Amino acid sequence: MLTLGVNIDHIATIRQARRTVEPDPVAAAILAELGGADGITVHLREDRRHIQDRDVRLLRQTVRTHLNLEMAPTEEMVAIALEIEPDYVTLVPERREEVTTEGGIDIVSNFNRFADVVKQLQGAGIPVSWFIDADGVQIEAAAKTEAKFIELHTGKYADATDPTIRDKELAVLIEGAEQAIATGLRVNAGHGLTYWNVYPVARISGMEELNIGHTIISRAVLVGIERAVKEMKLAMSGKL
Ligand code: PXP
Repeated sequence: MLTLGVNIDHIATIRQARRTVEPDPVAAAILAELGGADGITVHLREDRRHIQDRDVRLLRQTVRTHLNLEMAPTEEMVAIALEIEPDYVTLVPERREEVTTEGGIDIVSNFNRFADVVKQLQGAGIPVSWFIDADGVQIEAAAKTEAKFIELHTGKYADATDPTIRDKELAVLIEGAEQAIATGLRVNAGHGLTYWNVYPVARISGMEELNIGHTIISRAVLVGIERAVKEMKLAMSGKL
């Protein structure tokens, strides 16, 4: 069954705008779960621009579904993950100046180092997911690291305004998912998905989890988190 991981980074972004204590991502996670979230996702960035170490530690204790920790494959982050033990880790590229994660990670160019990160994390019982573009070469490299999952970057599909290009990008995602599943990888997807574009991605055969943040938190500001999450679950099943 397709599941929804709600990314609550933006709750922390609002808090950090004033460097205060509200709103608390821990409270947001509880409300998201009450609304039907199947998992909670947070990205602990090297520059700590939104989620803080304290948030991840507390969420580990409070999340009742599963906790997906997005992080760069650095020594510092691996040490934190080994200590906190999230339910799974999604490894993402990180550049300080980017507004959000702009593209998939390049496993091919960093293969030995990255394969070692997977070994460390999975050796400690933490499944690893690679956030990659639906590119055959990267999918093959992800499989070779023996990671359990990939998360297909849906940004190009989501950003396409021309329906022909959007259909083409959807076909790329479908093909990527097929290739990944054939090599034994499990498949998630995310980035840029909204109430309006999520359904075709939700219908991709074998898709396990969608990680969605911006559109849900944007709606939550207006209608509340529980309702925003409920409505995303409806959109994912084509009922919104
Ligand atoms: N998946 C990954 C790996 C991400 O980095 C992000 C953004 O933090 C998301 C999913 C969620 O993207 P959005 O906020 O556009 O829904």
